[in-house]
Amino acid sequence: MVIDVIHGPNLNMLGRREPEIYGTTTLADIDRELEALGTTHGADVESFQSNSEGEIVDRIQEAYGRVSGLIINPAAYTHTSVAIRDALAMLSCPIVEIHLSNIHKREPFRHHSHVSGVADGIIAGFGARGYRMALEAVLDMIREQK
Ligand code: DQA
Repeated sequence: MVIDVIHGPNLNMLGRREPEIYGTTTLADIDRELEALGTTHGADVESFQSNSEGEIVDRIQEAYGRVSGLIINPAAYTHTSVAIRDALAMLSCPIVEIHLSNIHKREPFRHHSHVSGVADGIIAGFGARGYRMALEAVLDMIREQK
């Protein structure tokens, strides 16, 4: 069973990027932890990061029919990308949208997500630990489908 984790723009800078908002955990730390947690549940967690909208759309298309669940932090594209939303809408597997920060507590332009309407659930505001929560939620949803 494969779970895809997609990280959007600027998340490659986690740890150094506005640590007062996003914390000091790096993306490599997050990916390592998810991979280890996945292994304990018999799941292969594959992580992907891109700063480019088209590459994220390509990755979602590649997930079609291949993955059992998908976790995505679209980062700034959350608020702008109809293309990412449309790509996600093609998938029938569980999808969790995640944000490190609580986007509803921040600037008004971050309050709207194009992705939430096609996600099964949203996690926001729990920092890096939210990824753990997201993986556990996706694995539970997959089990419930069976
Ligand atoms: C983010 C929130 C977005 O508004 C922002 O553009 C990001 C990160 C988060 O994880 O809190 O890059 O998705």
